[in-house]
Amino acid sequence: HELQLNLEQIEKGGFDHFMLKEIYEQPSVIKDTYRGRLLANKGIIKLGGLEDYIEKFTNADRIIIVACGTSWHAGLVAEYIFEDLARIPVEVEYASEFRYRNPIITEKDVVIAISQSGETADTLAAIKLAKEKGAFVYGICNVVGSTISRETHSGTYTHAGPEIGVASTKAFTTQITVLTMIALKLAKVKGTISHSDYMLHLRELETIPAKVEEALQSDAHIKVIAEEFKNARNFLYLGRGYNFPVALEGALKLKEISYIHAEGYPAAEMKHGPIALIDEEMPVVVIAVNSNHYEKVVSNIQEIKSRAGRIIAVVTEGDTLVKEMADYIMEVPHTPESLTPLVTTIPLQLLSYHIAVMLNRNVDQPRNLAKSVTVE
Ligand code: G6P
Repeated sequence: HELQLNLEQIEKGGFDHFMLKEIYEQPSVIKDTYRGRLLANKGIIKLGGLEDYIEKFTNADRIIIVACGTSWHAGLVAEYIFEDLARIPVEVEYASEFRYRNPIITEKDVVIAISQSGETADTLAAIKLAKEKGAFVYGICNVVGSTISRETHSGTYTHAGPEIGVASTKAFTTQITVLTMIALKLAKVKGTISHSDYMLHLRELETIPAKVEEALQSDAHIKVIAEEFKNARNFLYLGRGYNFPVALEGALKLKEISYIHAEGYPAAEMKHGPIALIDEEMPVVVIAVNSNHYEKVVSNIQEIKSRAGRIIAVVTEGDTLVKEMADYIMEVPHTPESLTPLVTTIPLQLLSYHIAVMLNRNVDQPRNLAKSVTVE
């Protein structure tokens, strides 16, 4: 028994939990994801699984993304990237809803299935349905040789390494990395991005590991914030545009491992309901990085403050405006808006991790949850 414990400690690489280890691995696994695939100086993106079928994508009427859980959130981020950069209409579907809806799928559709484990039953069933209807199906999986990776026509592995913690962390950021590379490649081939913008995105993507590393340095400060808010019963997470899915993912991380109720919302929808909940008991995590939506998110923060809400804001390094209004800030390095989810996710992972540890939760194996859901 003791030997087993020691083995586990070795596997955790000096971290208290797999989840923390996996959070800290992100700079290196994101690099592993683009290694040999992203040649920023040469302006090249090489994705074997994509190149052989690039016309399927460029001729597609639309892309349908199917996934569950955190992978579904990565799909939502991809919707913004694909539409913004490659100008391809995207629909993001919960695999469990899609499969039972009698969905309209044709040979002109490309279906992308995203799955860390490659074994999720609903996602697998959605793929089978799409194949029956003649769609081209592309997989983005982490586990090599998994069922979904075998059942799809082609695909790209994330190469994040084994993810042990039930709450997904590095799988999410590496999925977004792959999806970003696909979108950039398609944008280049379709001519929907200028050469300079393309080159800029490639170079910026290459700097993400260093920026994630920098974001991780706020860990001690985030622990202080966790201490302050760990007894809250509810949390609201707000974000807009590319960071709306990040708000959903932040809320999911908190509920999964701390069992605190949390809801993610698009910031502008706050006025259609959640604003009624705001008081001093309801901490609001707002992603307020520099973006097209900055001013609008700032006014959301003012609305929350005027109702005695407490704000934890994720801001771009050097921000002064939100810093003055928020109760606490978590800084992330500046990056182009389309890449911000890769950095804004980091403090939210750490916040939920520390709160769960302080509440003595079983961080790596939260109650009632499974790492991979192979049944309906
Ligand atoms: C379970 C896991 C989640 C994961 C989801 C989808 O609910 O606990 O972390 O996001 O399944 O899993 P997949 O392996 O398909 O990405």
